[in-house]
Amino acid sequence: MTDVIVVGSGIAGLTAALHAAEKGCRVTVVTKSALADTNTRWAQGGIAAVTAPEDTLDSHIADTLTAGMDLNDPDAVRTLVSEGPDRIAELVRRGVVFDRAADGDFARGLEAAHARPRVLHAGGDATGAAIQAALGAAVRASAVEVQEHTLLRDLVVENGHVVGIDVESGGAVRRLHADAVVLATGGAGQLYAHTTNPVSATGDGIAAALRAGAAVADLEFVQFHPTALAAGEPFLVSEAVRGDGAILVDDAGRRFTFDSHPDGELAPRDVVARANARAMAAQGDRPVRLDATVLGAERLARRFPTIDAAVRERGLDWSREPIPVTPAAHYLMGGVVTDLDGRTTVPGLYAVGETARTGVHGANRLASNSLLEGAVFGARAGEAAATDTAWPKVDSPAAVPLPRLTPATDAPAFSREALQDLMWQHAGLVRDAAGLRRASAVLAAWNTEPRPRSTEDDGLLLLARHVVAAALARTASIGAHFRSDEDAAAAASAPVPQEALAC
Ligand code: SIN
Repeated sequence: MTDVIVVGSGIAGLTAALHAAEKGCRVTVVTKSALADTNTRWAQGGIAAVTAPEDTLDSHIADTLTAGMDLNDPDAVRTLVSEGPDRIAELVRRGVVFDRAADGDFARGLEAAHARPRVLHAGGDATGAAIQAALGAAVRASAVEVQEHTLLRDLVVENGHVVGIDVESGGAVRRLHADAVVLATGGAGQLYAHTTNPVSATGDGIAAALRAGAAVADLEFVQFHPTALAAGEPFLVSEAVRGDGAILVDDAGRRFTFDSHPDGELAPRDVVARANARAMAAQGDRPVRLDATVLGAERLARRFPTIDAAVRERGLDWSREPIPVTPAAHYLMGGVVTDLDGRTTVPGLYAVGETARTGVHGANRLASNSLLEGAVFGARAGEAAATDTAWPKVDSPAAVPLPRLTPATDAPAFSREALQDLMWQHAGLVRDAAGLRRASAVLAAWNTEPRPRSTEDDGLLLLARHVVAAALARTASIGAHFRSDEDAAAAASAPVPQEALAC
């Protein structure tokens, strides 16, 4: 019998585990916190799929390609969209109760950059939590073994083949053997000082895949969300709130987003995020304000119960006063390169969800396509991991080498916070060659230090070096990657100095 280990327990991981188990495999899910403590659980925005008779697959495909600036892989996009309706049916079968309209059909939301209403929600803004609960219950009721509070330390590779993982749990390191390992550890929002992601989003799977020699791509494409609460622990304030009529104002109460785009608050996510960052810079980095008072207390509580509770927990009343918000790292479009069945360039290793770079998102993810990606490619990878008998060649875009720069001699001492600040400042919403080179040199200095770092911090450092290298290599702005020095393209694209030791 095949043994499959799935690392991570969000929508992609649990879907992969259930599909592998349904093929007759012995499956173990390994997760570093509790089973339900995932990025998926926090997803407010819903799940996009073609479920209405008047909607079409071609329309959803076109919207996905437009958002991704046509840097998407068209086959991956077609797979995502055409298998979406079946995965929605599967989620319903597994117990997810999507919100319904008065006639009993799905209530379908129209979101920015979607040509048709096709976004399904559960519990208003609690879609991720509803999916997490249903899939968690399905896994608990199945033969899948769950090992919680178990951190991926590294992949075990023998003769070029992944044969298991080393994990840390209860202060000890253990080895788990498997015929196939599926990485579903989510994204890496913790690379940045501001993020909508939970503290667990440290990119463990991508870092482990890099150490195992797997190809990665598109790491320069980090999506920044315009509005995370800037009071207490960071918390996403869905763009659906702006869709319902909330506006953004600066300290002087001026509505500033129309300076950047004729659609104002409803401009593309990256445009609004940069407008917020600019307004903050102009007022000494104090957060801008999201004014949702026009919606009133009853509507805010009914439409956005999760956000409403989070806002009120912080002692704020958003029905009466604007709330402080900041842009924040939200989603990593790049990751471990896979084919359409989650296979990576290393035999025995699969990647799914935000960990993977399937090619569906291109340079920018369409809103509400991330849960869908987890469901569609989680299912495909789980089945492939259970049944693969040979390893086809997995095509990969050209690798971006780490720059060879002199490590900075004035680097501050390493800490998670120092890394997050460095990335926020130099590899965040607005990038230029000088800042990226500085970040690269500081990261190189940290990399030469002896390693009393945790596994998570080691992974973040490695991933940061690759994100910065990718951002340095892409000298033109596109999608979520914005280079302020684009006009100085000649300087920016000059070869990175090779005078020093390799990082
Ligand atoms: C949001 O609700 O603003 C985020 C949704 C998403 O990232 O797809």
